[in-house]
Amino acid sequence: MINVAVVGVGGWGKNLARNYFQIPECNLKYICDLDETRLSQLQSQLPGTQLSRDFDSVLADPEIQAVVIATPAPTHYSLCKAALMAGKDVYVEKPIVLEVHHGEELIRMAEERDRILMVGHLLEYHPIIVKLRELIDSGELGDIYYIYNQRVNLGTVREDENAMWNFAPHDVSSILYLLDREPTDVTARGQSYLRDGVEDVVFMSMNFSGESMAHVHVSWLDPHKIRKITIVGSKKMAVFDDLESNEKLRIYDKGAAQNTDYDTFAEYVTLRFGDVTIPYVKVGEPLRIECEHFLNCVRTRSRPLSDGHDGLRVLKVLDAAQRSLKTNGVPVAIEGNAKTPGTSSGTAAK
Ligand SMILES: NC(=O)c1ccc[n+]([C@@H]2O[C@H](COP(=O)([O-])OP(=O)(O)OC[C@H]3O[C@@H](n4cnc5c(N)ncnc54)[C@H](O)[C@@H]3O)[C@@H](O)[C@H]2O)c1
Repeated sequence: MINVAVVGVGGWGKNLARNYFQIPECNLKYICDLDETRLSQLQSQLPGTQLSRDFDSVLADPEIQAVVIATPAPTHYSLCKAALMAGKDVYVEKPIVLEVHHGEELIRMAEERDRILMVGHLLEYHPIIVKLRELIDSGELGDIYYIYNQRVNLGTVREDENAMWNFAPHDVSSILYLLDREPTDVTARGQSYLRDGVEDVVFMSMNFSGESMAHVHVSWLDPHKIRKITIVGSKKMAVFDDLESNEKLRIYDKGAAQNTDYDTFAEYVTLRFGDVTIPYVKVGEPLRIECEHFLNCVRTRSRPLSDGHDGLRVLKVLDAAQRSLKTNGVPVAIEGNAKTPGTSSGTAAK
């Protein structure tokens, strides 16, 4: 039995608490929040779980092996650091932290102490994303030309982080997972309409060595609710619509081929309109899969799929995108992945 504490039981943390409470091999010993009302609202749903407003006393309990942190992003660094120093395994919601050097420090701390550090990149545990990765790896979609993600709605407007930091960790983590690569450079443009300096809408683009590209559109100021990923490959195309209840994934046998033997431009490209297939993928609750993965890593001392390094990769992209945002879309090279100097990304703003 693994004793777990969930810290931060607001909008999202209460879902984590519910899952850890329901998993048989886990004992949700504490939920911890500064807000007493939030704690007491959950009390009846989590019988036997202790309520605490004091994070330090939770950490001081030697029975607590793992701490799940679902507080706002600016608090992640100090809470993760304290939990690692107290010898706990740590799961932290996305984004891992807000500063690259803080992410590096947490990874170092976890490795030195032999502690598990996992980041809540939920989409990496989504069965449809896993299926898409299989389709890409098997070559069924062909070379991946481009991916675009749309995560927009008229939704909760945050005051402390912009729409990119709030939504795009999911998109960046899923795109890096799908392509199994990191971008060379990123550009981002956005606007703050509701509150100065906090972008409500952001369009960001990632370039992957000039081979593939990815585009992410995030907004909490949009008439549509869309959660969609479109992948265009040289052989087939795929669309994952997470708001569809059953048929979430469609594979389009569509494409365009270049002919070598042609007289006119019309003969140069042949368009192909084939079948649309809807593969069956059993979709459980991705959050449950993610929670079980964390517990399994704690039990077996194995490295999580979305470990600290994965969190840092995503953070570096967001950090570069934030700098691009502040320069109205100047490309920013991703440290360590830039193309050779002289290319567009090699001359990008740092
Ligand atoms: N994986 C997902 O799909 C997903 C979805 C939404 C939010 N999130 C992430 O979850 C985290 C929390 O987001 P939210 O929407 O639930 O925020 P929220 O504001 O609704 O809840 C945060 C809670 O943390 C508590 N808190 C703050 N500081 C604390 C501290 N020092 N000790 C104890 N409690 C503290 C607050 O009182 C609040 O109840 C963020 O990192 C966010 O990015 C993830």
